[in-house]
Amino acid sequence: MAEDKKKVILDEIEDTVRTIGVLTSGGDAPGMNAAIRAVVRVALSKGLKVRGIRRGFHGLLREEIIDLSARDVSDTIQRGGTILQTARCQEMRTEEGQQKAAAICKKYGIDGLIVIGGDGSFAGAQKLANLGVRTVGIPGTIDLDIACTDYTIGFDTAVNTAMEAIDKIRDTSTSHERCSIIEVMGRDAGYLALWCGIANGAERILMPEEHDYNEEELIKDILLNKKRGKKNYIIINAEGIGDSLNMAKRIEEATGIETRASIIGHMQRGGSPTCKDRVYASTMGAMAVELLCDGKTNRVIGYRDGKFVDYDINEALSMKKEISAYQYEIAKTLAL
Ligand code: F6P
Repeated sequence: MAEDKKKVILDEIEDTVRTIGVLTSGGDAPGMNAAIRAVVRVALSKGLKVRGIRRGFHGLLREEIIDLSARDVSDTIQRGGTILQTARCQEMRTEEGQQKAAAICKKYGIDGLIVIGGDGSFAGAQKLANLGVRTVGIPGTIDLDIACTDYTIGFDTAVNTAMEAIDKIRDTSTSHERCSIIEVMGRDAGYLALWCGIANGAERILMPEEHDYNEEELIKDILLNKKRGKKNYIIINAEGIGDSLNMAKRIEEATGIETRASIIGHMQRGGSPTCKDRVYASTMGAMAVELLCDGKTNRVIGYRDGKFVDYDINEALSMKKEISAYQYEIAKTLAL
């Protein structure tokens, strides 16, 4: 066979993904199972083999790799959490860990890897792409704090879970005419706090992005609120500010108004995904497989301006995202 022709055939073979690996990494998020299911079924429909990697990059480094069939993902679309389990992995931040992970992918014939997680997980995917494993990232986090996308898997479910819990707290807060501090998740990002603040009609939203909030002014506002005839004062406090229990004591002391703190915690990360999380996660899972089949690598999927899109991971990681100052201002006006 002529050398040129041989080279074309070899290039074609190298360009074809035969085995796709999928893992979930970082904090779990409702809808991750819908994405895994879509990856598995779309890949199988294209005649590819699918390997599930348990416990994220941590599991990859320990070769916790299983074959996935269409039946393995039956009855999972409605389930919260991740059937593959997840972990945070320091080792993957080291060059040694990255080399080892790439070698394990090669050993198991994984020529395309789909990583469902946040920015830290995408950084791992980027390193693997540089080492010759094709990678695509899917944004999965309840925090919504991934710059290249307006949507992340799990946020919709988490914010609705928190909203329903806050509605319940509000009922008792009104009955007792109390001040209620409700702590929602979000160590570094205030999206959950902002959305709940608006959706639950909170008087005040405290977010990590506005760390230097003034407690004296807050206390004055609570007293003014009472004068205005309002029956309660709801503060949505993001985990990144925290200190809700002590804050409640200080406010009660300074205002004489009974104040209670409730920390909603990890219940926000669990539960059956909303319709939106199931549909968007399924779409993103399918797209990730298509991208790998098109020979793409080092990509991350996003949802921007009403469309599903994909970006180079390097570009995605360099983007910045800011809380909407407009929505934050509206929330204050709506609290009148
Ligand atoms: O998944 C994101 C997140 O829920 C953050 O809001 C929170 O700070 C963090 O994970 C907590 O994670 P864990 O308790 O699992 O360490």
